[in-house]
Amino acid sequence: MKTTLVALLLLALFVASCEAVTRGAFKTCDQNSFCKRNRHYADQVAHLQSFSNPYEVTKVSIGKGEASVSIVKSVPKAKSVPLSLKLSVLASGGVRVTLDEPNRAKINNVVSSKRYDASHWAFNGEPAIDTSAQITDYEHTIEAIYGDKTKAVLNKKTLQLDVYRNDKLEVSVNKRHLLNMEHLRSESDNDKHLSSYEIADGMFKEEFGGHPDSKPKGPESVALDFEFPGYNHVYGIPEHADRLSLRSTRGRSEGDHTEPYRLYNVDILEYETDSPMPMYGAIPFLQARKPGSSAGVFWVNAADTYIDIQKEASHTDTHWISESGTLDFIVFVGKTPEDIVTQYGSITGFTTLPPISATAYHQCRWNYNTQDDVLEVHANFDKYDIPYDTIWLDVEYTQAKKYFTWNRDVFPDPGYMLGQLDKTCRKLTVIIDPHIKLEEGYKVYDALKQKGLYVKSNSGDAYEGDCWPGKSVWIDTTNPAAAEFWKSMHAKEPQGIAAEADNMFFWNDMNEPSVFNGPETSILRDTVHYGGYENRDVHNAFGMSMINATFAALTARNPAVRPFILTRSFFSGTQRTAAMWTGDNEASWEYLQIATPMVLTQNVAGMPFAGADVGGFFGNPAPELLTRWYQAGLFYPFFRAHAHIDTKRREPWLAEEEHIDYLRNAIRLRYQLLPSIYTAFRQASVSGAPILKPLFYVAPNNPDAYARDDSFFVGNTGLLVHPVVHEGATSVNMFIPDEEVYYDFHSSQLVHKKNDKGFELEYKANIDTIPILQRGGHIYARRDRIRRSSELMLMDPVTLVVNANSMWDAEGELYLDDGKGYGYKNGDFIHMKFNFDGQVLKASSLNPDPKSFDFVHKAIDIPIEKIIVNSPEMLTVGCTVRQAGRDWNPKYETKQIGATHQTIIHNPGLAVGLPWAMSFS
Ligand SMILES: *[C@@H]1O[C@H](CO)[C@@H](O)[C@H](O)[C@H]1NC(C)=O
Repeated sequence: MKTTLVALLLLALFVASCEAVTRGAFKTCDQNSFCKRNRHYADQVAHLQSFSNPYEVTKVSIGKGEASVSIVKSVPKAKSVPLSLKLSVLASGGVRVTLDEPNRAKINNVVSSKRYDASHWAFNGEPAIDTSAQITDYEHTIEAIYGDKTKAVLNKKTLQLDVYRNDKLEVSVNKRHLLNMEHLRSESDNDKHLSSYEIADGMFKEEFGGHPDSKPKGPESVALDFEFPGYNHVYGIPEHADRLSLRSTRGRSEGDHTEPYRLYNVDILEYETDSPMPMYGAIPFLQARKPGSSAGVFWVNAADTYIDIQKEASHTDTHWISESGTLDFIVFVGKTPEDIVTQYGSITGFTTLPPISATAYHQCRWNYNTQDDVLEVHANFDKYDIPYDTIWLDVEYTQAKKYFTWNRDVFPDPGYMLGQLDKTCRKLTVIIDPHIKLEEGYKVYDALKQKGLYVKSNSGDAYEGDCWPGKSVWIDTTNPAAAEFWKSMHAKEPQGIAAEADNMFFWNDMNEPSVFNGPETSILRDTVHYGGYENRDVHNAFGMSMINATFAALTARNPAVRPFILTRSFFSGTQRTAAMWTGDNEASWEYLQIATPMVLTQNVAGMPFAGADVGGFFGNPAPELLTRWYQAGLFYPFFRAHAHIDTKRREPWLAEEEHIDYLRNAIRLRYQLLPSIYTAFRQASVSGAPILKPLFYVAPNNPDAYARDDSFFVGNTGLLVHPVVHEGATSVNMFIPDEEVYYDFHSSQLVHKKNDKGFELEYKANIDTIPILQRGGHIYARRDRIRRSSELMLMDPVTLVVNANSMWDAEGELYLDDGKGYGYKNGDFIHMKFNFDGQVLKASSLNPDPKSFDFVHKAIDIPIEKIIVNSPEMLTVGCTVRQAGRDWNPKYETKQIGATHQTIIHNPGLAVGLPWAMSFS
């Protein structure tokens, strides 16, 4: 690795200054003037005897599925400001309200004064309007009736919006009168024009940590309150290192936060746990749950955002505050948590179905140093009989941190290396960051400079800052021309990134963007992007703009294979193109503990392809911690081991003797369950279903389950996992959230219900054991022959596990495709539904139009090699199978395991891709 002295010094400074967080490096609400102003506003309004609403409706016009409302905002001693509000009912469910300030004058030539509309990033195309919604303009209200007995009522006098389902109030918007849209104004005389609830702090400039913010547009924040009547639990708004059920943020009781949850994408080193501090990504979507009902809010804004949460005895209040942009939100209501996430995903898109390799095990470290190092690690996996799919290269593979170059001294022949990996269907993931070394003669820098495709300072020059390569500029991927240029860099051409290979995956890191010498480790807010918008406006969508460009580039590179991209920064909609991980955690129990709630939060916020660095990024995990982390991490939708450059090597075979077995077993269990995990990815890709489900999804009417985040279900398999996350623990108290029967995963023993509300079961778990139960009512598939990588297992036989519930019923699904191409979009996949009713186990096809192209043709006859049926009652006296018009009687054995009656059918002679029925009688 060739590093200049300056870069080394910088790095040393950086690491030293960040070892103890860093809390002071990030703004509190009080230090961020727009947040301070709006919290102040809220406190003032709360104490008013009578509130005089500055917003007045002047005109209403009703269209198909939408209403356009003209509003004026009165300003003390000045002309009132016209605003335009639009209320629309979305065909996928949800009522959307946008509020804009249409007449903002041009301020100067550099910066656009228009409010930024972040929906073009978040939305997967313009959402269709529900033209059958009935919208009526009454004297005092505008009423929209739509969907499944849903009604939204906007009060014209107060601008309070109430949303009802089945005549019950679910969400009240602006009930506390916190609507605030800071209009465009001039600095002179501003004080005279403030209402009694406003303060002028920081409206026209502010400073933080020696970094000035010039605010050429003045104040432009937007804020609003949403109340959830009857709800005590709210979830979502990642990314925070906090629990699944969000806390109150105004510090009234023990365990509350005092700071609001903040969404501002930053490179937060060694982040604190149990904190509302901002992290790398931002999804301004929140859902609430109470028995019988769910509700949600999506706040469509990419600027710095704070969310205050106040839990009262009878309801939960939330106050959303963003620095700039249009005011734009969607309210969702529904019966189940799934309803809310499906509505949200119908607008922002669902998780793209990844290549199967990306759903298997990833081996990463900063850094695998040489080509020989990579190939040796690769060979060792086989030597130690441990499967893996992807090996990763961090920044050191490049020449002096210049992306799209290879350090040929240590990676002399990347094409050869990729070819070696490809022999066992393994992939290489390389890192590409958005900072571009400022060096004349470096092709990427030269191109950006020549075409002006970098982020600019507020004076119109290139913005320069420090990052891994030293002095850098940032490609402005919000610019379509920059995205176009990005394509050429990824092409399989001499100037592109390497090789002819198709077994390359990509990692876009540091894309908040991280700037070592910038405010809050990021870029100045008054830097300028495409269209004349400030970073202030686009900030939380910037990382997403980069991966959107990468996704397009990889699609152009090879339209026939599904790209895989890992991103650190994300925004609503990023699930359409990439997976995320929780950034730079530590090798300590605390970080293992918080990883499960963080991954669950991603799963209820529409971006389930998520994981935490297994083992912890910083520091050296003790053997017990590393083992427990693998045992938890194997269930993360994104399963990757990663480690900092200063840590000891920790590939699985370097563990202490018996720990090698534990790590191997954990990784092999991932591969054994891969058919079911991949099926969960399929479900996520069509409905937004979580891949890891919090307990409240399975027991949505049991309030005792609402805050549980120490355990989870895996897709629809019924597998309930409670990872061991405490040092020295040899058991866990496993919470069973419902009355269903459960079978132990390892022994198949039946676990009885104890009472109506679920109960805790002490589950013994020595270091070699992962606590897992199987919920009655589910059928899932495994592959019991573990090979070197996921693609090598695609044609292997399948085992079905049927766990009957107390009514003897069970159901499940299995989805199979070629794992890498797009043939599935044309019907080239196998998707079977399994049903059991106590007497007949049936398989039917969920593929309405199976096309026997490559995959189905080859895979239709994959044998089901074993069927295991666990049941609370004896069911077999005989077994008959029927498939493709033939009947036969397969051999079976029955066993009694504790209270479980188990029937195992060995080699039933069934082909996985065709319908069949098996009767027990
Ligand atoms: C994201 O990339 C696609 C090309 O794949 C492009 O059509 C689209 O406009 C981009 N999204 C935005 C918001 O620029």
